Amino acid sequence: MAPRSLFASLLGALLLAAPGDAAVGTKVSSASKAGVPLFESETVQLTDKSLSTLNSKQAALFGFGKNGSRQSIPHKGECKLLPGDKSWPSGDVWGQFDDVLGDALIKTVPLAAACYPSWPEYDSDKCENVTADWTVSYMHAADPASIMWPLFEGRSCLPTGSNVSSSCTIGGYSSYAVNVSNVAQVQLAVNFARNENLRLVVKNTGHDFNGKSTGAGGLGVWTHNLKDIEYIANYNGSNYQGPAVKMGAGVQAFEIYAKAEELGFTAVGGEGKTVGVAGGYVLGGGHSPMSSVYGLAADQVLALEVVLANGRFVTVTEETDPDLFWAIRGGGGGTFGVVTSVISRVHPKVGVTVSTFSFATSSNVSANTFWAGVRSYFERFPAHADAGTYAYFWVLSTGTNSFEFLMNPFFAVNHTLDEFNTLVKPWFDDLKALGIPFTPNSTYYDSFYQGWDAGFPLETIGSVAMMTGSRLFPRENWEDTTKFNATVAAIRSTVSAGYPLLAFNMKAELPAGYPDDSSNPAFRDTLMHAITSVSWDANATNSQINATMNKLTYDVLGKWRATCPDSGAYMSESDISEPNFQQAFYGTNYDRLYKLKQRYDPAFLFYAPTGVGSEHWEVKSLDGLPDQNGRLCRL
Ligand SMILES: Cc1cc2nc3c(=O)[nH]c(=O)nc-3n(C[C@H](O)[C@H](O)[C@H](O)COP(=O)(O)OP(=O)(O)OC[C@H]3O[C@@H](n4cnc5c(N)ncnc54)[C@H](O)[C@@H]3O)c2cc1C
Ligand SMILES: *[C@@H]1O[C@H](CO)[C@@H](O)[C@H](O)[C@H]1NC(C)=O
Ligand SMILES: *[C@@H]1O[C@H](CO)[C@@H](O)[C@H](O)[C@H]1NC(C)=O
Ligand SMILES: *[C@@H]1O[C@H](CO)[C@@H](O)[C@H](O)[C@H]1NC(C)=O
Ligand SMILES: *[C@@H]1O[C@H](CO)[C@@H](O)[C@H](O)[C@H]1NC(C)=O
Ligand SMILES: *[C@@H]1O[C@H](CO)[C@@H](O)[C@H](O)[C@H]1NC(C)=O
Ligand SMILES: *[C@@H]1O[C@H](CO)[C@@H](O)[C@H](O)[C@H]1NC(C)=O
Ligand SMILES: *[C@@H]1O[C@H](CO)[C@@H](O)[C@H](O)[C@H]1NC(C)=O
Ligand SMILES: *[C@@H]1O[C@H](CO)[C@@H](O)[C@H](O)[C@H]1NC(C)=O
Ligand SMILES: *[C@@H]1O[C@H](CO)[C@@H](O)[C@H](O)[C@H]1NC(C)=O
Ligand SMILES: *[C@@H]1O[C@H](CO)[C@@H](O)[C@H](O)[C@H]1NC(C)=O
Ligand SMILES: *[C@@H]1O[C@H](CO)[C@@H](O)[C@H](O)[C@H]1NC(C)=O
Repeated sequence: MAPRSLFASLLGALLLAAPGDAAVGTKVSSASKAGVPLFESETVQLTDKSLSTLNSKQAALFGFGKNGSRQSIPHKGECKLLPGDKSWPSGDVWGQFDDVLGDALIKTVPLAAACYPSWPEYDSDKCENVTADWTVSYMHAADPASIMWPLFEGRSCLPTGSNVSSSCTIGGYSSYAVNVSNVAQVQLAVNFARNENLRLVVKNTGHDFNGKSTGAGGLGVWTHNLKDIEYIANYNGSNYQGPAVKMGAGVQAFEIYAKAEELGFTAVGGEGKTVGVAGGYVLGGGHSPMSSVYGLAADQVLALEVVLANGRFVTVTEETDPDLFWAIRGGGGGTFGVVTSVISRVHPKVGVTVSTFSFATSSNVSANTFWAGVRSYFERFPAHADAGTYAYFWVLSTGTNSFEFLMNPFFAVNHTLDEFNTLVKPWFDDLKALGIPFTPNSTYYDSFYQGWDAGFPLETIGSVAMMTGSRLFPRENWEDTTKFNATVAAIRSTVSAGYPLLAFNMKAELPAGYPDDSSNPAFRDTLMHAITSVSWDANATNSQINATMNKLTYDVLGKWRATCPDSGAYMSESDISEPNFQQAFYGTNYDRLYKLKQRYDPAFLFYAPTGVGSEHWEVKSLDGLPDQNGRLCRL
């Protein structure tokens, strides 16, 4: 990296810097207004004092935001930079950036570059490994720039085995990423991106369905290595006294659940094993196997430590900043700031019965009988959700007039085997009366972790030949027979047309006494979060893919929307092209969220497709599809 001046070396002794680098960051007290000490990584901050050690050029690159020209909303047609642009930072500037970060800057090399002889990273063994692991989420989470839905990156560098791409470019991946291990690095990245007009990308695991954690020419803030977890036996907040957990932004579901198992508590996290529980998941609402009992993940949040768009580090609680506290809990990742840790309520240890089973059409079970069995299940949704259970089930077409139902799994929180059997008896009696054979495999576990670990599959990711869309079906659709019939008919018609149903029977009410947050109001009334998808041949042309995507958006999901036009969809597992996404993903909260976006991020530094304020921007992608492989410009 760039040689350091003597001046900088001397300062290194005053500032917190490992020997051999010129990291700019000041060690501060661990006191936090959240009432829980900052993590060690959060006590290394960029302060006015740290900046005073830089020369004026560097201060302009890395200094905090003021209300100036760059901080106001960009003009129509103004764009973020791409590599090769005249104003793109020089190699020397990137070198200085790496110096102040303390060697944490990583230039993006797409994972699958190992498969392309044109890249210096070409390595056929590694290519084989990348190809074999492409559908496994762990590999993408552990990479600074990779994401799990490469379709929305722009399919610019796929493993050669996929036969889809014949070349490899950085495409829609961010150009650089900061491998964050302290708060000062996040602040420096935010300031540098803002001051230099770079596209800022926050990437944690890369699970996002809509390409929100990637972007061409982006400077990535990669939070994956912020792994601290601290249990707080007695959190003392104004509104809540009790057990809580403080999690670094990089903590994943399997990690918090393992900790919960060790210490004997239950956390509200996703069913997906590798989802980032303290990142986009919780910031977008976050549904959980515990949601029918305790609400959404965002509802549990008591405090957050956050780097704002102006680069300042703040503690956000109901007392310090009620507006941001409301907005950041549920209003979407990558929108209001970079969260470095979250403090959330946790709950007593609880047992769970986990059950898997399936049934299908056969020579003895006609399609109508099969659907009568499905209808009987749907009739139980209010009772099952109100009993605190969560069920993940699939209904698939397996040929003309042949169907399969998979319960994968039924997750009956706080139910013994007997209690579970009593709960499902009315449905199971109907299935028996209909002559539908099925064999439930039900096991009681005495903790959430054991049940979750045994019950939920590690989902495959990485496909470029499919996309998803979803709907939150409201309780109202169960309370009115006409609407209920329309719901069942819409689902049957979708599945009969060959589209799969992957759905959750659950509820996610805000528990009594919890402060309100900005999670999609449609979640509060829902009894089913339903997902479907379309797919295409690996060799489909872009216009064929586009036509298939449009079919999902308008025809397939249109039928679902028609049964509940005032409801919405879950932003984090949705169709990127959802019409009127503001209403669908944010409902009546959108106007307030938008006003707060203008207050906390007046220049719209944080951009995420379908995020609050994203309607002011467009990405002109190279392939014409809604992906991030193109320049981000103000509309
Ligand atoms: C296999 C799979 C299983 C899933 N299971 C569930 C589930 O059980 N329940 C559920 O509710 N959802 C689930 N999801 C959806 C998941 O919640 C979203 O994909 C979510 O965005 C993931 O957040 P992340 O931080 O892990 O991912 P990323 O893609 O890294 O980030 C998502 C968004 O959050 C932003 N972000 C990330 N970290 C931060 C931060 N520290 N500060 C500010 N912004 C940040 C990013 O910029 C991006 O906009 C699943 C998704 C997949 C692919
Ligand atoms: C910028 O100026 C506006 C209007 O004067 C004000 O509302 C806002 O709080 C300021 N933002 C910052 C970050 O100082
Ligand atoms: C690929 O490499 C990773 C890391 O070395 C390893 O964990 C994984 O098992 C490998 N996968 C295959 C399919 O060999
Ligand atoms: C890719 O193409 C080759 C040869 O055309 C074929 O043998 C292989 O099965 C294809 N792979 C995939 C994943 O489609
Ligand atoms: C990122 O930083 C961590 C230290 O926080 C280090 O262990 C890890 O190897 C780094 N990862 C990469 C890809 O450089
Ligand atoms: C909790 O905080 C309140 C107000 O700050 C204080 O009066 C009280 O003593 C604290 N309780 C405990 C158990 O620390
Ligand atoms: C489990 O259910 C019982 C009632 O059957 C209730 O008293 C108890 O609080 C519940 N436990 C948890 C952890 O939800
Ligand atoms: C259909 O029912 C008959 C009589 O009950 C049984 O013998 C047969 O195995 C069933 N077939 C299937 C496919 O379940
Ligand atoms: C039942 O489920 C348990 C837990 O998932 C599994 O270990 C077992 O193999 C299953 N049994 C059958 C017969 O499928
Ligand atoms: C709803 O569907 C059921 C079963 O098909 C039928 O018996 C009932 O008449 C329908 N009700 C309405 C209001 O359409
Ligand atoms: C794609 O491949 C299939 C065979 O797998 C072939 O039938 C089809 O015509 C091909 N489509 C295009 C657009 O090349
Ligand atoms: C995709 O479909 C949309 C909506 O019909 C259209 O505006 C757009 O031009 C299409 N893009 C491509 C690449 O075909």
